[in-house]
Amino acid sequence: MNTTEVLTTFLDFYRERGHQRVTGGSLVPPAGDPVLFTTSGMHPLTPYLEGRPHPLGRRLVNVQRCLRTTDLDDVGDSTHLTVFEMLGSWSLGDYSGPQSLRWGYELLRDGFGIGPDRLHATVFGGDGQVGLDAESLQTWAELGVPVELTREDNWWSNGPTGPCGPDSEIFVWTGTPPPCGTPTTDRRWVEVWNHVMMRYRRHVDGSLERLTKSNVDTGMGLERLLTVLQDKRSGYECDVFEPWLRTVSGLWDLDEPSLRITCDHLRSAVVVIGDGIRPSNTGRGYVLRRLIRRTLTAMWRVDPSRTLADLPDEPVGHTVAHFGQDLDLAPVRHALLDEERRFRQLLHRGRPLVSRLRSAGPLSEEDISYLHETHGIPRELVVGGLLADD
Ligand code: ALA
Repeated sequence: MNTTEVLTTFLDFYRERGHQRVTGGSLVPPAGDPVLFTTSGMHPLTPYLEGRPHPLGRRLVNVQRCLRTTDLDDVGDSTHLTVFEMLGSWSLGDYSGPQSLRWGYELLRDGFGIGPDRLHATVFGGDGQVGLDAESLQTWAELGVPVELTREDNWWSNGPTGPCGPDSEIFVWTGTPPPCGTPTTDRRWVEVWNHVMMRYRRHVDGSLERLTKSNVDTGMGLERLLTVLQDKRSGYECDVFEPWLRTVSGLWDLDEPSLRITCDHLRSAVVVIGDGIRPSNTGRGYVLRRLIRRTLTAMWRVDPSRTLADLPDEPVGHTVAHFGQDLDLAPVRHALLDEERRFRQLLHRGRPLVSRLRSAGPLSEEDISYLHETHGIPRELVVGGLLADD
């Protein structure tokens, strides 16, 4: 199944079961939201999960682009991406958790053709505040799917306060058959879908209050699902990344982690720029700046003459079209190249300063702060970065 078929299968399945598609999908949350980027499909729905009636009703479905800066250091492995898409379904005080799990199972088995013998679930085992999620346990037993009980791994919240609840995660076996171990003991079990029984609100003092309505919030990582369905080693080898992998590997000779980081960060940067952000020293702009500079660092480690000017329009255009961003490619390319120019200037300025300090001995913490605070040269450039050794 290609990406379009996967998206259509998912959306049709939920539409046929009375769900309305939520529109929108920018990475930038609405004004007044303190969070930098949307990190989960439920994020834009927070007020409705807390009880406000949604204009489209009580059954919703969506595909939401998300960005998680917490995962930035894991990017380059086979499962983490900076910008990814979450396939989400919601019951706003409508159907129950067991119904959501049954539909999830049906869609994976019949819609996506994943053999039930490749599935494993995890369920919240209970803690001092909330008891075992017996309903989910019972549902999986009826469906014949093995279950592992955990505590922290099966409790979901989008932050220290706000709506939260026990969850049940569905894993797919990605090793050679037959499956062995459990999700916490064997990494070949890959989590694809999380169903959160969002029944509580956490207060600042840590206490939990029952929400007036019990909701279900689910999220499935599109690229992880594609990896499973297209039988690949990682999301980078799936069709959604194909133009990036082909173009970048043809342009620059990079080792595998650098190739993945370059593809991930450039694609993510294009989406962030497409959502109206430009590089800067604070907030969202700083995240974008780091993405572009980390890419350039990976590219220049071997050959500093490499330039983003060589990047053809094709992958950029593919990403802009995939995310439905209605914009010209010229301003996107301009933002990338402008940041490259600034980064080159910073390195040009930084090199003699760093050598002068180094000639007096290894760099101290004080030197590193001085370079950062007085000259804007970040720590990651001097420690293990492009200015680490002259
Ligand atoms: N909100 C849940 C998650 O992001 C579904 O995992």
